[in-house]
Amino acid sequence: MVRKDLLGLRECEAEEIDEILTEGLDMKRLLKQNGKSLPYLRDKSVTILFYENSTRTRSSFELAAKYMGAKVVNISASSSSVQKGETLVDTGKTLDAMRNDFIVMRHPMGGAPRLLAETVKAHVVNAGDGMNEHPTQALLDMLTMKENFGKIEGLKVAILGDIRHSRVAKSNLFGLKKLGAEVTMFAPRTLIPAEIGKLGTKVCSSREEAVEGADVVMGLRIQLERQHGGNFPSLGEYARYYGVNDEVMKYAKKGALVMHPGPVNRGVELTSGLIDGETSRIEEQVLSGVAVRMAVLKLLCGE
Ligand code: CP
Repeated sequence: MVRKDLLGLRECEAEEIDEILTEGLDMKRLLKQNGKSLPYLRDKSVTILFYENSTRTRSSFELAAKYMGAKVVNISASSSSVQKGETLVDTGKTLDAMRNDFIVMRHPMGGAPRLLAETVKAHVVNAGDGMNEHPTQALLDMLTMKENFGKIEGLKVAILGDIRHSRVAKSNLFGLKKLGAEVTMFAPRTLIPAEIGKLGTKVCSSREEAVEGADVVMGLRIQLERQHGGNFPSLGEYARYYGVNDEVMKYAKKGALVMHPGPVNRGVELTSGLIDGETSRIEEQVLSGVAVRMAVLKLLCGE
């Protein structure tokens, strides 16, 4: 991979995504054999700069960097000089002056990682920017699919949930389409952006239509923190009329995988039975997250 930064899958070539997935599958095999001392980033430093909450993404980037021997620094907006009025660009210049090799950033504003990447010499990895993209989440989702099916091309992936506020839905759509998958989506009309169909997904008018013949059914979190109410009557009614349950899954292929990027609102986007069921790959996605982030860090620095 020859790019300096990973900001989104919209701008990635299919070959680059393929390269990351191939490397990520190798990393996952090593992780499953307890391979946690790989030398690829031995002389590198990684700063994890998060302006939003996170469990999975933050900790998996930190573990990925540490498993490959990097020095890791964690900065949260709440404890940084951002609280004293420092701008993003000045924060970036400060981190650059310390000879950081990587800055992994999550920010509530779409486009913030791009602004940082244009400012700093360090490689910038977007760990989720507003409602724009979350490229490593989509890569870990695709890695999980590729591990299960041996390919992405020809798969049918149904995405149901809060599409409007979701950076995960957009990154998955870009990545999956580039690798030849078919993507269908369903959400209440208030939670689906009018233009999403132009990006190559089929917007369905029912859960059953979206899930019909699917190899993978992905639930997305209702992002209450980005909503101002009024998009659906109540969480109970959302679960009843828009959530994924056993009845809806009957329309998917037999044994279709159940996925979710997390954190899950249990019993809202997916029933508890599906989350904990045999076909769920939600925990598997978490390990894929460490593996794919190892692959991204390794490939970005040309190792
Ligand atoms: N999927 C995801 O981005 O989870 P976190 O918010 O916990 O990082």
